[in-house]
Amino acid sequence: MAHSEAERRAMSRALELAARGPRSRNPQVGAVILSPGGEVLAEGWHRGAGTAHAEVDALSKLPEGGARGATAVVTLEPCNHTGLTGPCSEALLAAGVARVVYAIDDPGKTSGGGAERLRAAGVDVEAGVLADEAGAFLEPWITSFRLGRPHVTVKWAQSLDGRAAATDGTSQWITGAEARADVHRRRAEADAIVVGTGTLLADDPQLTARIDGRLAERQPVPVVIGTSRVPADAAVHRHPANEAVGGQPLVYPTHDLAAVLADLRDRGLHRVFVEGGPTLVSAFLRSGLADRLLVYVAPVLLGGPRLSLDDIGVGTIGDARRLVIDHTATLGDDVLFEARLRERRPWPGKEED
Ligand SMILES: NC(=O)c1ccc[n+]([C@@H]2O[C@H](COP(=O)([O-])OP(=O)(O)OC[C@H]3O[C@@H](n4cnc5c(N)ncnc54)[C@H](OP(=O)(O)O)[C@@H]3O)[C@@H](O)[C@H]2O)c1
Repeated sequence: MAHSEAERRAMSRALELAARGPRSRNPQVGAVILSPGGEVLAEGWHRGAGTAHAEVDALSKLPEGGARGATAVVTLEPCNHTGLTGPCSEALLAAGVARVVYAIDDPGKTSGGGAERLRAAGVDVEAGVLADEAGAFLEPWITSFRLGRPHVTVKWAQSLDGRAAATDGTSQWITGAEARADVHRRRAEADAIVVGTGTLLADDPQLTARIDGRLAERQPVPVVIGTSRVPADAAVHRHPANEAVGGQPLVYPTHDLAAVLADLRDRGLHRVFVEGGPTLVSAFLRSGLADRLLVYVAPVLLGGPRLSLDDIGVGTIGDARRLVIDHTATLGDDVLFEARLRERRPWPGKEED
């Protein structure tokens, strides 16, 4: 049976509920239980590893038998395995749910298969409702899960002629206020914000997320990569998120980006926002470690030698890194291109499921 308008609305609500959960090793998942007539009976969301999964959280708010014949609307396929908690497919069956609607399949080999189990037990199951929205929301977690490393967004601002700075190294600001506000909103959604020592020494950036001139509630942890010494009075030492990682920004005196990402993942930092400059951004692209690109292009010419990218490992046109543009936006006078690489290179050490 095709999903109803009430189920679509419930999925939209379930995505809102999912966002209340913490960003951790586990996915953020939301659930809504609907009566056969489409009224909301209960809502739930997952609060992190070891706590109830979203659908079980929602069911727990109903009296015994309260979900009999109901529809469970869940953002991720109900799991089918016993981890720290029991399988959600069994909990839904025990509650007597008649129909399950979910957005995207569970990518896990061990946790997946919930839909099959439910169908085999006679439950009507529909997958793919608001799959694009749910997929975009869970993309960082899916990357982290599949590849065993954080999801990496690489951002830079450039002039129309492809420069990241003027000849003397000044780059504040190439783009206008609206584009910069967009960057700050995205910073607030990230777990870590990364620069190379070149940018740290040239710009002394604060690396905070500021919205309407005020510090955002959620702040990404600042990360500096490179062997040059970070000055004791660098602004990044006063970053409010340092507290979460022992009082100091995370400084990695290395060029081994894979090792840095592995450490960030171990610290539970799954959404990494790389803000440059050109040397570090190019190194991420060269290593195949950029999942999403945000390129802010300003209608200005800078000329000169400071290109927004240097060597990204393309020696000949046949090796060009082709992109898929997912989204463009006009932000004041500037244009944002949101893109991903058409071909993603495998992450060494962990095969894709
Ligand atoms: N337009 C923009 O969006 C934007 C953004 C940021 C900066 N900028 C501008 O860019 C300029 C700074 O550029 P930049 O390229 O020097 O900055 P950068 O990319 O931030 O830093 C480069 C440094 O990062 C370190 N590093 C870490 N991992 C590396 C790796 N895998 N490969 C190579 N180097 C690695 C190296 O430092 P060590 O030698 O210390 O190891 C390298 O010299 C400034 O003018 C700044 O204003 C522009």
